Amino acid sequence: MSSVSDETQLDPAPAFDSVDDVIDALREQGYIADTRLATTVFLLTRLDKPLLLEGPAGVGKTELAKVLALATGRRLLRLQCYEGQDETKALYEWDYGKQLMYTQILREKIGQVVEDAPDLTTAVERIGENESVFFSERFLAPRPLLEAIRSEQPVVLLIDEVDRADEALEAVLLETLGEFQISVPEIGTFVAKQRPYVLLTSNNTRDLAAALKRRCLHMFLDYPAAERELEIVRSKKTGLSDALAEELVGVVRGLRELELRKAPSISETIDWARTLAVLGVEELNSQILSDTVSVVVKYDKDVTKALGALPRLVDPNAEISDEHGHGHGHGHGHEPDGDVDGRAKRAGKDTAGRHGSVYGGTPGAAQQTPTPVRAVTPGQGERSFGRRKRPF
Ligand SMILES: Nc1ncnc2c1ncn2[C@@H]1O[C@H](COP(=O)(O)OP(=O)(O)OP(=O)(O)O)[C@@H](O)[C@H]1O
Ligand SMILES: [Mg+2]
Repeated sequence: MSSVSDETQLDPAPAFDSVDDVIDALREQGYIADTRLATTVFLLTRLDKPLLLEGPAGVGKTELAKVLALATGRRLLRLQCYEGQDETKALYEWDYGKQLMYTQILREKIGQVVEDAPDLTTAVERIGENESVFFSERFLAPRPLLEAIRSEQPVVLLIDEVDRADEALEAVLLETLGEFQISVPEIGTFVAKQRPYVLLTSNNTRDLAAALKRRCLHMFLDYPAAERELEIVRSKKTGLSDALAEELVGVVRGLRELELRKAPSISETIDWARTLAVLGVEELNSQILSDTVSVVVKYDKDVTKALGALPRLVDPNAEISDEHGHGHGHGHGHEPDGDVDGRAKRAGKDTAGRHGSVYGGTPGAAQQTPTPVRAVTPGQGERSFGRRKRPF
């Protein structure tokens, strides 16, 4: 099979000089990344490896791809995955309408080719000899993966919610992600001229194939540490004072410790801050939080649980020092004495790299390491997916 384009060229000007440069560039686009995430992004731009981001809903996975495109001045190409999606929606299709139009216009010419054919078999043979005319690049309708590979300018390719795609499509991704090339049997192999920055996101609703994971840098993006979440809320200019925003972040983090069907995400913290600012709230109390709790919890049962927990989440008497906060695992609804507001657990969750062994692909590790289990259970993800009906 021929190679349709030239050899891949290395990006002549690396997008970022350093990890700090990544942090600054993303921040300029309104995205607050910690060092761990920024380091992973830096490596993505230097190692020519796709980045697989796994984590609960609303922690900034999709947003990262968007801001990376803005920060690097690259076009964003997005493949939104869904169940039953076939490869024609991911790679390419033949433009049947265009083919038909050409055959109509060229009817006479085609007629001449078969005019003197003595029988049907010969006529079919002759048409067959000219088949490549109609299966050429002219009639190719590229979909996001092929578009990314063929692009003259380097792009950011977002393969969003890859865990929703069928395993067959995952297999199709392997060639693209491993070799940065796509084979079109009728034409040849397209090799990327400029390697795209590829980001895949997953809510962990099912295990992805080891072969896919092997080809990717991998990162589990969890709810942010309190400090970073506060910084994100601040950066969104919600109108809420810093002091109240800090308290609010603490409350949201407390809610995340409950066994909710859908834990509040960063975007919900932002929405809540905006809501409270609009209401002109000057002090957080359980009354105002209860009145507005539907901004952050969206299921009846969750609302009931949240309403039950809010008084102790805003009561300063329930605050304990962070000194207790290391090494605790999980365990919901049965906190040890002294961890009334779940601070200890959250502090444990804030430890960088705590997901390393689990989400690095070690089989069975998830069962042995307690901490990340609560972060996003498969059930949680499925349910949140079930709820959302976003076409793109
Ligand atoms: N680090 C961050 N800096 C700034 N804003 C953030 C950050 N993380 C999340 N957000 C905000 O949260 C919103 C939701 O993020 P995003 O849509 O990327 O979530 P997601 O992880 O892709 O969720 P899902 O799995 O539901 O698709 C963003 O639109 C953005 O406003
Ligand atoms: Mg997303």
